[in-house]
Amino acid sequence: MADRWEELEKRCQNCRECSLCETRTNVVFGVGSRTAEILFVGEGPGAHEDEQGVPFVGKAGQLLDDMLAIIGLDRTMVYIANIVKCRPPQNRDPLGVEQDACIGYLREQVTLLRPKLIVCLGRIAAMRLIREDFKITREHGQWVKKGDFELMAMYHPAALLRDPARRPDAFEDLMSLREKVRAVCEHTPLPEKL
Ligand code: URA
Repeated sequence: MADRWEELEKRCQNCRECSLCETRTNVVFGVGSRTAEILFVGEGPGAHEDEQGVPFVGKAGQLLDDMLAIIGLDRTMVYIANIVKCRPPQNRDPLGVEQDACIGYLREQVTLLRPKLIVCLGRIAAMRLIREDFKITREHGQWVKKGDFELMAMYHPAALLRDPARRPDAFEDLMSLREKVRAVCEHTPLPEKL
Protein backbone atom coordinates (compact mmCIF):
# COMPACT_ATOMS: atom_id res chain seq x y z
CA MET A 1 0.00 0.00 0.00
CA ALA A 2 2.84 2.41 0.88
CA ASP A 3 4.28 1.78 -2.60
CA ARG A 4 0.99 2.68 -4.24
CA TRP A 5 0.80 5.95 -2.30
CA GLU A 6 4.41 6.76 -3.20
CA GLU A 7 3.82 5.99 -6.87
CA LEU A 8 0.68 8.16 -6.94
CA GLU A 9 2.37 11.05 -5.16
CA LYS A 10 5.34 10.90 -7.53
CA ARG A 11 3.06 10.98 -10.57
CA CYS A 12 1.15 13.91 -9.11
CA GLN A 13 4.35 15.80 -8.25
CA ASN A 14 5.44 15.55 -11.88
CA CYS A 15 2.02 16.35 -13.36
CA ARG A 16 1.77 18.67 -16.38
CA GLU A 17 -1.84 17.89 -17.32
CA CYS A 18 -3.06 21.50 -17.09
CA SER A 19 -1.60 25.00 -17.23
CA LEU A 20 -1.51 25.41 -13.43
CA CYS A 21 1.79 23.51 -13.60
CA GLU A 22 3.35 26.58 -15.26
CA THR A 23 2.73 28.86 -12.27
CA ARG A 24 2.97 26.50 -9.29
CA THR A 25 5.86 26.51 -6.84
CA ASN A 26 4.86 23.17 -5.31
CA VAL A 27 2.28 20.50 -5.98
CA VAL A 28 0.09 20.17 -2.87
CA PHE A 29 -0.65 16.45 -2.80
CA GLY A 30 -2.27 15.98 0.61
CA VAL A 31 -1.44 15.50 4.27
CA GLY A 32 -2.44 13.33 7.18
CA SER A 33 -2.92 9.66 7.95
CA ARG A 34 -3.05 7.28 5.00
CA THR A 35 -5.28 5.03 7.09
CA ALA A 36 -7.67 7.81 8.17
CA GLU A 37 -11.40 7.16 8.16
CA ILE A 38 -12.20 10.81 7.47
CA LEU A 39 -11.15 12.75 4.38
CA PHE A 40 -11.45 16.55 4.18
CA VAL A 41 -11.41 18.06 0.69
CA GLY A 42 -10.82 21.75 -0.05
CA GLU A 43 -10.80 23.45 -3.42
CA GLY A 44 -7.17 24.16 -4.15
CA PRO A 45 -3.95 25.53 -2.66
CA GLY A 46 -3.50 29.21 -1.85
CA ALA A 47 -0.22 31.15 -1.69
CA HIS A 48 1.05 29.64 1.59
CA GLU A 49 0.13 26.12 0.51
CA ASP A 50 1.88 26.65 -2.83
CA GLU A 51 5.00 27.84 -1.00
CA GLN A 52 5.07 24.95 1.47
CA GLY A 53 3.52 22.10 -0.54
CA VAL A 54 1.08 21.37 2.31
CA PRO A 55 -2.71 21.94 2.29
CA PHE A 56 -4.40 24.41 4.63
CA VAL A 57 -1.36 26.07 6.22
CA GLY A 58 -2.49 29.70 5.89
CA LYS A 59 -5.07 31.53 8.03
CA ALA A 60 -7.90 29.32 6.77
CA GLY A 61 -5.77 26.31 7.67
CA GLN A 62 -5.28 27.60 11.21
CA LEU A 63 -9.05 27.91 11.53
CA LEU A 64 -9.49 24.39 10.12
CA ASP A 65 -7.10 23.07 12.81
CA ASP A 66 -9.15 24.91 15.46
CA MET A 67 -12.37 23.46 14.06
CA LEU A 68 -10.94 19.93 14.14
CA ALA A 69 -9.76 20.47 17.71
CA ILE A 70 -13.28 21.42 18.84
CA ILE A 71 -14.37 17.82 18.29
CA GLY A 72 -11.08 16.21 19.36
CA LEU A 73 -9.54 15.66 15.94
CA ASP A 74 -6.14 16.71 14.63
CA ARG A 75 -4.28 16.45 11.33
CA THR A 76 -2.72 13.11 12.25
CA MET A 77 -6.17 11.50 12.60
CA VAL A 78 -7.62 12.58 9.25
CA TYR A 79 -6.48 13.09 5.66
CA ILE A 80 -6.67 16.50 3.98
CA ALA A 81 -6.54 17.08 0.22
CA ASN A 82 -7.90 19.39 -2.45
CA ILE A 83 -9.84 19.11 -5.70
CA VAL A 84 -6.89 20.66 -7.57
CA LYS A 85 -3.32 20.11 -6.41
CA CYS A 86 -1.79 23.28 -7.85
CA ARG A 87 -2.57 26.88 -6.96
CA PRO A 88 -4.91 28.76 -9.27
CA PRO A 89 -3.39 32.22 -9.92
CA GLN A 90 -4.78 35.01 -7.68
CA ASN A 91 -6.68 32.31 -5.76
CA ARG A 92 -9.45 32.24 -8.35
CA ASP A 93 -11.82 29.26 -8.39
CA PRO A 94 -10.27 26.32 -10.25
CA LEU A 95 -11.67 26.11 -13.78
CA GLY A 96 -13.67 23.09 -14.94
CA VAL A 97 -10.82 21.97 -17.23
CA GLU A 98 -8.35 22.21 -14.33
CA GLN A 99 -10.64 20.20 -12.08
CA ASP A 100 -11.15 17.62 -14.82
CA ALA A 101 -7.40 17.30 -15.34
CA CYS A 102 -6.76 16.84 -11.61
CA ILE A 103 -9.74 14.94 -10.19
CA GLY A 104 -8.21 11.56 -11.08
CA TYR A 105 -5.56 12.07 -8.39
CA LEU A 106 -8.22 12.64 -5.74
CA ARG A 107 -10.11 9.58 -7.00
CA GLU A 108 -6.98 7.49 -6.61
CA GLN A 109 -6.41 8.95 -3.14
CA VAL A 110 -9.95 7.91 -2.20
CA THR A 111 -9.38 4.42 -3.62
CA LEU A 112 -6.24 3.97 -1.52
CA LEU A 113 -7.63 5.60 1.63
CA ARG A 114 -11.12 4.10 1.54
CA PRO A 115 -12.47 6.71 3.98
CA LYS A 116 -15.79 6.21 5.74
CA LEU A 117 -16.58 9.93 5.67
CA ILE A 118 -15.75 12.70 3.20
CA VAL A 119 -16.18 16.30 4.33
CA CYS A 120 -16.24 18.87 1.52
CA LEU A 121 -14.82 22.21 2.61
CA GLY A 122 -16.79 24.77 0.66
CA ARG A 123 -18.93 25.04 -2.42
CA ILE A 124 -16.36 24.04 -5.05
CA ALA A 125 -15.60 20.66 -3.44
CA ALA A 126 -19.30 20.04 -2.76
CA MET A 127 -20.28 20.81 -6.35
CA ARG A 128 -17.62 18.44 -7.61
CA LEU A 129 -18.10 15.58 -5.13
CA ILE A 130 -21.77 15.74 -4.09
CA ARG A 131 -23.86 17.41 -6.81
CA GLU A 132 -23.17 19.89 -9.57
CA ASP A 133 -25.94 22.23 -8.38
CA PHE A 134 -25.14 21.90 -4.65
CA LYS A 135 -26.14 25.00 -2.66
CA ILE A 136 -23.83 25.38 0.30
CA THR A 137 -26.05 27.87 2.16
CA ARG A 138 -29.01 25.49 2.04
CA GLU A 139 -27.39 22.07 2.10
CA HIS A 140 -24.34 22.36 4.39
CA GLY A 141 -24.40 19.79 7.16
CA GLN A 142 -26.59 17.31 5.28
CA TRP A 143 -25.20 13.79 4.92
CA VAL A 144 -25.41 12.03 1.57
CA LYS A 145 -24.56 8.36 1.02
CA LYS A 146 -22.60 7.58 -2.15
CA GLY A 147 -21.26 4.07 -2.64
CA ASP A 148 -19.14 3.07 0.31
CA PHE A 149 -18.95 6.46 1.97
CA GLU A 150 -21.02 9.27 3.36
CA LEU A 151 -20.36 12.87 2.40
CA MET A 152 -21.30 16.26 3.76
CA ALA A 153 -20.22 19.83 3.08
CA MET A 154 -19.33 22.54 5.54
CA TYR A 155 -18.54 26.17 4.91
CA HIS A 156 -14.95 26.68 3.79
CA PRO A 157 -12.85 28.07 6.68
CA ALA A 158 -11.92 31.06 4.45
CA ALA A 159 -15.66 31.83 4.13
CA LEU A 160 -15.95 31.68 7.93
CA LEU A 161 -13.07 34.16 8.23
CA ARG A 162 -14.83 36.51 5.79
CA ASP A 163 -18.26 36.08 7.35
CA PRO A 164 -18.17 35.18 11.06
CA ALA A 165 -22.00 35.17 11.16
CA ARG A 166 -21.77 31.69 9.56
CA ARG A 167 -19.79 30.26 12.47
CA PRO A 168 -22.79 28.99 14.45
CA ASP A 169 -23.82 26.93 11.39
CA ALA A 170 -20.28 25.58 11.12
CA PHE A 171 -20.40 24.62 14.80
CA GLU A 172 -23.65 22.70 14.23
CA ASP A 173 -22.04 20.90 11.28
CA LEU A 174 -19.05 19.97 13.43
CA MET A 175 -21.42 18.51 16.02
CA SER A 176 -23.06 16.47 13.27
CA LEU A 177 -19.64 15.28 12.10
CA ARG A 178 -18.75 14.28 15.64
CA GLU A 179 -21.93 12.23 15.93
CA LYS A 180 -21.28 10.57 12.56
CA VAL A 181 -17.69 9.73 13.49
CA ARG A 182 -18.96 8.12 16.68
CA ALA A 183 -21.54 6.13 14.73
CA VAL A 184 -19.50 4.83 11.80
CA CYS A 185 -15.76 5.18 12.45
CA GLU A 186 -14.04 2.27 14.15
CA HIS A 187 -10.57 3.61 14.89
CA THR A 188 -11.10 7.34 15.30
CA PRO A 189 -11.64 7.78 19.04
CA LEU A 190 -13.18 11.07 20.09
CA PRO A 191 -13.29 12.31 23.68
CA GLU A 192 -16.64 12.02 25.47
CA LYS A 193 -16.74 15.71 26.30
CA LEU A 194 -16.23 18.76 24.09
N1 URA B 1 -8.04 26.60 0.65
C1 URA B 1 -8.27 25.37 0.13
O1 URA B 1 -9.34 25.09 -0.39
N2 URA B 1 -7.28 24.49 0.20
C2 URA B 1 -6.10 24.73 0.78
O2 URA B 1 -5.25 23.84 0.81
C3 URA B 1 -5.91 26.02 1.33
C4 URA B 1 -6.89 26.93 1.25
